[in-house]
Amino acid sequence: MRIIVTGGAGFIGSHIVDAYLAEGHDVLVLDSLWEHGGGRRANVPERASFVHMDIRDENVARIFQEFRPDIVSHHAAQHSVAISSRDPKYDADVNVMGMLNVLDASVKVGAKKVLFASSGATFGTPERFPITESTPQNPTSPYGITKMVTEHYLRFYKEEKGLDFTALRYGNVYGPRQDPNGEAGVIAIFIGKFLKHEGIRIDWDGEQTRDYVFVKDVAKLNVLALDKGSGGCYVIGTNVKTSVNQIYRTLVQISGFEAPVTQGPRRPGDARDAQFDPALAAKELGWTPQTTLLDGMQQTYDYFKALVPA
Ligand SMILES: NC(=O)c1ccc[n+]([C@@H]2O[C@H](COP(=O)([O-])OP(=O)(O)OC[C@H]3O[C@@H](n4cnc5c(N)ncnc54)[C@H](O)[C@@H]3O)[C@@H](O)[C@H]2O)c1
Repeated sequence: MRIIVTGGAGFIGSHIVDAYLAEGHDVLVLDSLWEHGGGRRANVPERASFVHMDIRDENVARIFQEFRPDIVSHHAAQHSVAISSRDPKYDADVNVMGMLNVLDASVKVGAKKVLFASSGATFGTPERFPITESTPQNPTSPYGITKMVTEHYLRFYKEEKGLDFTALRYGNVYGPRQDPNGEAGVIAIFIGKFLKHEGIRIDWDGEQTRDYVFVKDVAKLNVLALDKGSGGCYVIGTNVKTSVNQIYRTLVQISGFEAPVTQGPRRPGDARDAQFDPALAAKELGWTPQTTLLDGMQQTYDYFKALVPA
């Protein structure tokens, strides 16, 4: 198949590109290499075509006409909750207007389907766990709001314009290539500190939990969703809650370094727990996460360690 991956130079997108190439698909990456994102030109393998372009650019339609994709994997986004809170207009411009530009270009060129990187942030802070597809979406950040809104646009485009979709509501994705300098996941940030033999800060009491899903499992999911999950929105996680303290202890185990810890206050708006039950994705897409936290963290640690100059 011919597949365009927007955001394919980024952390998750680049692993999806690797998985599609391994399956023999033709891939074009469209990415602006946004300065506050995780996109790197070096993440895009030579066998994929690369176009350095903003998803809001009117030339997106021309690129789509030339490449004629069967599938569009939409992973480009303003991905920061903090930036979305400071600048909701920018968030909406990229995550809604940019996405509509991609959807219009997809319709024009007769693409069959869009795979969309939605988010667990669309649920806000629910009363009950685990989160499933029947949990009400009550986003508490502009980022969560735009991700939820775009799921509704996808339904509209399927109904009115015949463009199929599958939306994947990721929990906390982690793994090689995640930007440790941003406000990304705690795993990448901690590994960066451990490798520099620096101390780390644990906010709150460290017993707050997240559901960490390994990026290569997410890439496999995106292969399965190429021809399954028509019109579906799926909760994607491991159904396991992991605390910040557990992440810390696992890294001590992997690295042999007992990083000094300072305690920070609870960050405003920080949720206590997250847990995503992927039972529907298992049933309808045939996907279950395969990688244990220890194995995924070891792979991530080894990746970042290899980047440290000797
Ligand atoms: N990392 C997670 O845990 C997580 C969780 C839920 C959802 N998501 C979603 O998954 C997708 C990928 O996230 P990621 O963690 O890999 O982040 P990332 O920053 O590594 O990847 C996003 C990519 O989008 C590109 N981009 C940003 N603005 C753009 C624009 N205007 N035009 C073109 N390209 C642009 C960036 O350059 C980057 O390469 C995003 O849509 C994000 O919202 C991520």
